[in-house]
Amino acid sequence: MRVYKVKNYDEMSRQAAGIIASMITLNPACVLGLATGSTPEGIYRELIKGYNNGDLDFSEVKSVNLDEYQGLDPNNDQSYYYYMTDKLFNHVNIKKENYHLPNGLAEDAAKECARYDEIIKSLGGVDLQLLGIGINGHIGFNEPSEKLEKDVHLAKLTESTINANARFFKSYDDIPKHAFTMGVRTIMSARKIVLAASGKSKAEIMPAVINGPITTAVPASLLQLHPDVTIIADEDALSLL
Ligand code: PGA
Repeated sequence: MRVYKVKNYDEMSRQAAGIIASMITLNPACVLGLATGSTPEGIYRELIKGYNNGDLDFSEVKSVNLDEYQGLDPNNDQSYYYYMTDKLFNHVNIKKENYHLPNGLAEDAAKECARYDEIIKSLGGVDLQLLGIGINGHIGFNEPSEKLEKDVHLAKLTESTINANARFFKSYDDIPKHAFTMGVRTIMSARKIVLAASGKSKAEIMPAVINGPITTAVPASLLQLHPDVTIIADEDALSLL
């Protein structure tokens, strides 16, 4: 695990975007694993800048997202499909047929999980997986638990995650309680992983991720077993380390 401590959110965004940009430059047809949430917004802004400058070409890039809420229409502004189009895809020249997310409206959840697993396989796996980190140590929606799922699955969100998401929804009833997510094997199979973290709310979990025991109680601690993980975190996120 390489850990880069940066000053603040903007620096984290530039550094992480720099790694993704290098990947695209070295391998223009790379498969990116993408994440949503507050953390990657700045990273996506930097990538859009790179595209607008003429430094980055997404025409051959493929992407698969980590997760999607069950039950949200892609046009719902809280769906991850909406987030990705709004914050990245609509602003660069990635082709629509080349980006993928789980379908939150799929009627048969098991079939949808198998379909999404198959997409990732058919692309030859993920070259670079971008991750945020939940305040409870989740990656994707692999929540702390006695056992973790390997492959794409429908996850039940923990109260901690539901509460962390509450700020985006009008009422508790509107907050999705389940999401489709890559499993830990899917994530760990990525050839390179970049985890970005910013802010005091992440300070408590970061030592457990980086130095703590490897445990399903902190799913991100499993990343210690991966041969190529880069953590880019700001001073606030690393303040307890
Ligand atoms: P955040 O979410 O980027 O909004 O903090 C991270 C996560 O829950 O994985």
